[in-house]
Amino acid sequence: MCGIVAYIGNKEAYPILIKGLHRLEYRGYDSAGIALLNGGLSVHKTKGKVSVLEEHMKDFDKSGTIGIAHTRWATHGEPNTQNAHPHYSFSRKIAIIHNGIIENYSTLKKELINRGYEFHSDTDTEVLVNLIEDIQTKEEVNLEEAVRIALNQVIGAYAIVILSQEHPDMLIAARKGSPLVIGIGENDFYLASDATPIIEYTKNVVYLDDEEVAILKRGSELKIKTIKNEEKTPYIQELEWNLNELEKGGFDHFMLKEIYEQPTSIRDSFRGRLHPDKGTVSLGGIIDYEQKILNADRIIIAACGTSWHAGLVGEYLLEEIARIPVEVEYASEFRYRNPIITENDVMIAISQSGETADTLAAIELAKEKGATVLGICNVVGSSIARATDAGVYTHAGPEIGVASTKAFTAQVTVLTLMALRFAQLKGTLPKSEYVRLLHEMELIPEKVKKVLDDNGLIEEIAGKFKDSRNFLYLGRGYNFPVALEGALKLKEISYIHAEGYPAAEMKHGPIALIDKDMPVVFIAPNIGIYEKVVSNIQEVKARNGVVIAIVTEGDTTVKNMADYTIEIPETEEMFVPLLATIPLQKLSYHIAVMRGCNVDQPRNLAKSVTVE
Ligand code: M6R
Repeated sequence: MCGIVAYIGNKEAYPILIKGLHRLEYRGYDSAGIALLNGGLSVHKTKGKVSVLEEHMKDFDKSGTIGIAHTRWATHGEPNTQNAHPHYSFSRKIAIIHNGIIENYSTLKKELINRGYEFHSDTDTEVLVNLIEDIQTKEEVNLEEAVRIALNQVIGAYAIVILSQEHPDMLIAARKGSPLVIGIGENDFYLASDATPIIEYTKNVVYLDDEEVAILKRGSELKIKTIKNEEKTPYIQELEWNLNELEKGGFDHFMLKEIYEQPTSIRDSFRGRLHPDKGTVSLGGIIDYEQKILNADRIIIAACGTSWHAGLVGEYLLEEIARIPVEVEYASEFRYRNPIITENDVMIAISQSGETADTLAAIELAKEKGATVLGICNVVGSSIARATDAGVYTHAGPEIGVASTKAFTAQVTVLTLMALRFAQLKGTLPKSEYVRLLHEMELIPEKVKKVLDDNGLIEEIAGKFKDSRNFLYLGRGYNFPVALEGALKLKEISYIHAEGYPAAEMKHGPIALIDKDMPVVFIAPNIGIYEKVVSNIQEVKARNGVVIAIVTEGDTTVKNMADYTIEIPETEEMFVPLLATIPLQKLSYHIAVMRGCNVDQPRNLAKSVTVE
């Protein structure tokens, strides 16, 4: 949830830290802070965005070649300056930044208060830094050992970095459940919650594993131990993402850039996997598990938010094309409802960030019960990618906008490939039809490009409806999840209430909402059960509802009924979500911009939800 960045080396730390915070701001942005060691240990914190901290720092000494910094998404304690990180220890000799939750913090806090410690914030993090200090004094051990002992006492999740006045040449970092990446530079180390602040300095990184502690000393090799004091050999990996992907590239917002990247991200997600000329699909990442999948009783898809919507599209795809039974679960519900899972089940966990706490917990539960767990992740080396038995990466590139766009279509692309691969292995489709589908899939990026080029029509529609208080999104079959995703996009960035429904369910309740002020967005391509959707549109029009419809190019039936139509190119039914989602993303984007909302960092949200 929060963003961590730290540096130790021979360069000035402040510019690296502040730039890193800007890159990580998408993870949380209610307060920010920085600690530098330049003579003494100085901590500076402000409420609000990183730019507020930057402004505040103008009046202070920013020198020093070692430092830690943090941008926060509040869990314990309201978002204010006291609760912002870094937190000093009681003696003010140690500073800590933390991402995660210490669940037994109140018991530990009581003990520390009894021992004379005073607290200046409501956070669990301040408890942890004081626990470390207390152990160091009480047990007369060095800082590294005190950190290990403390981490053996805490219950919960953490990614921490510690800076001590008494150790000007050392940072100590540790993780459990919350991500932490170490960049290995020429003569320096970079630390961050994800690789985005590191990429411009080095491509060599080490992903810290759960319950590992890293000791980063100036002029020394990286040392990693477990919290049980076992030595580990650092495994250095090369980053695939590049710096250009982290910039806005001339777009006003990351979200808009990411919407426009979809022809590329969809193509990158099927490149090397889709072979229309050979009439095959290959998925190297799961090749060793194919028999297991084909013999499985069912596939359970577990995910949250937009990834859950992609999972729903996956259910339609896998059942229709590959004839494998699928259940789609909210990871947060699945983990707590004592579900029936057997060794004959295969779980597919879907996550852009690969760090979502509920999805990780669902994976652990499925593994405990003996199921095979596969992942569809965007972030290489993420916790979910590592927790699963095998998986297929989406190659969407970094997604910075909090509202997921290109990650969704990349996830749907990978699920489509999976459905096609299993269909190939099971022989569920006639060869000629199968090959035709592969050729059609290859054309999707070009068709997405065409949808993106709407000549300002969507912006014009956005202008008409920017002040609406409610929206209804309706679709059937493959387009029901598209309706859900369209509604989620609108509500999360524009704060307009929006509901997604299967179109036919409308008459079982939501129809009562329809009047002349209620825009109803229909996903109504001229394929599948089109006539049924046309009837649903008539039902809305009969009640004076305002209809915005996504239709197939050249459609006249819906055009004659709807108030506004947005065309998408003709395609096979199973590929419609990849096209129909795009105008809905753009509609939300333009409405949010017109309402003056912060599109990339909507209120109360964070990019990766590492708390349950
Ligand atoms: O990183 P994940 O895909 O696991 O994240 C899941 C949800 O938190 C995420 O999709 C969320 O719903 C997005 N903000 C939607 O735009």
